[in-house]
Amino acid sequence: MATFSSGVQKNDETERHAHVVGWGMAAPASVLTNDELSTFVDTNDDWIFARTGIRQRYIADEGESTATLAYKAAQQALEVADILPTDLDLIVVATSTPENIFPSTASLVQDWLNAHEAGAFDLSAACSGFVYALNMAADSIRAGSIQAALVIGAETMSRILDWQDRSTCILFGDGAGAVVLQASPAPGGVLSSVLRSDGAGSDLLAIPSVGSIDADESRAGANGAKLYKMYMAGSEVFRFATRVISESIEQTCAAAGIETNDIDLVIPHQANRRILQAAARKLGLDADKFMSNLERYGNTSAASIPIALCEAIEQQRIQDKDHIALVGFGGGLTWAAMLIRWGVPQPSAQQGSMLNRQRRHVQYRIARWRSRSRRWRRRVNRKVREIRD
Ligand code: ACO
Repeated sequence: MATFSSGVQKNDETERHAHVVGWGMAAPASVLTNDELSTFVDTNDDWIFARTGIRQRYIADEGESTATLAYKAAQQALEVADILPTDLDLIVVATSTPENIFPSTASLVQDWLNAHEAGAFDLSAACSGFVYALNMAADSIRAGSIQAALVIGAETMSRILDWQDRSTCILFGDGAGAVVLQASPAPGGVLSSVLRSDGAGSDLLAIPSVGSIDADESRAGANGAKLYKMYMAGSEVFRFATRVISESIEQTCAAAGIETNDIDLVIPHQANRRILQAAARKLGLDADKFMSNLERYGNTSAASIPIALCEAIEQQRIQDKDHIALVGFGGGLTWAAMLIRWGVPQPSAQQGSMLNRQRRHVQYRIARWRSRSRRWRRRVNRKVREIRD
């Protein structure tokens, strides 16, 4: 069993580390530019870009959903990790826009992948959700209860936006990102995490839903929130975000025993370029150390950190042994930071063997067949029972 102190794993002979060994992302096919947005909302490209750093976002088409985007990102992550879906013990999808309230989006992905040895659940912590989920999975690996986990952040924010509200609809987009975490005796991987919440700020950022206290009476709540639509008090969230990014990164560095200056790259939640610049200033870090792809994706909530991570890897901004800080913040209010020492302990990672690739594709085909045949069998059994009774 691993031993922990202040969220940091100590070296001993039995220790297990949780390493990121696979990654993948998916974006919908359709793009919505600021200019296109301004044809139906009173806004313009200059205002949006100057205040947020966003130029465009991806929007899911009819045939795309949180689960289909999550599935695509998951397939890529398994490819890079070069493991089979049946090797997974756990699938967690962090999302604020789940396919259903239940069953979970994670269960759908589990079924489509044929990951029949894995438990699956969704995690709701808004834009901090991916870091929360990664921490849960890393802790399960380090405690020895699982070997491999698939952690996904996936959203279709376009479906919960009020497209008449120019203060929110300009900010968000759709997408998914995924990582595979795996146990390894090699030191490194997830070093420390800080998870926090302040429910007193719950009215600043919300999507009122079926369980809301005022769901029956008010389709417009006291603060102007509409049922099933996002509400945000932008300037207060802005102030909160700049404070907690620097605070939580400092805390996670202290827990890991490193200086903030030792961070090689920060992968922050992609909310607003000005928030990221302010946080970099507070931390005394060069703004270049903050990965940003806001311009092309906007804010994809729980998907933004894993998408930015994938792009940072693709752009070769992450090297072996680098210290990577992830930081998320959003509804709840919630916030979370994590420090990772990068290092892929698997020699096969990134190339993947041809044999495993074929086995994965066979498993995806089996998944479709297995799912249909199970439903069909249940229907037949129901009919048989009806006839018998
Ligand atoms: N286009 C043109 N003008 C606009 C728009 C728009 N889309 N939206 C607001 N305005 C106007 C306002 O009406 C206001 O006009 P006024 O001065 O005549 O009253 C003016 O622009 C300034 O409005 P502010 O709301 O003060 O603009 P601000 O600089 O605060 O920027 C923004 C707004 C971009 C929403 C900012 O507050 C922000 O980014 N907040 C944080 C949001 C965030 O990060 N949320 C995500 C975290 S959690 C999550 O991801 C779910």
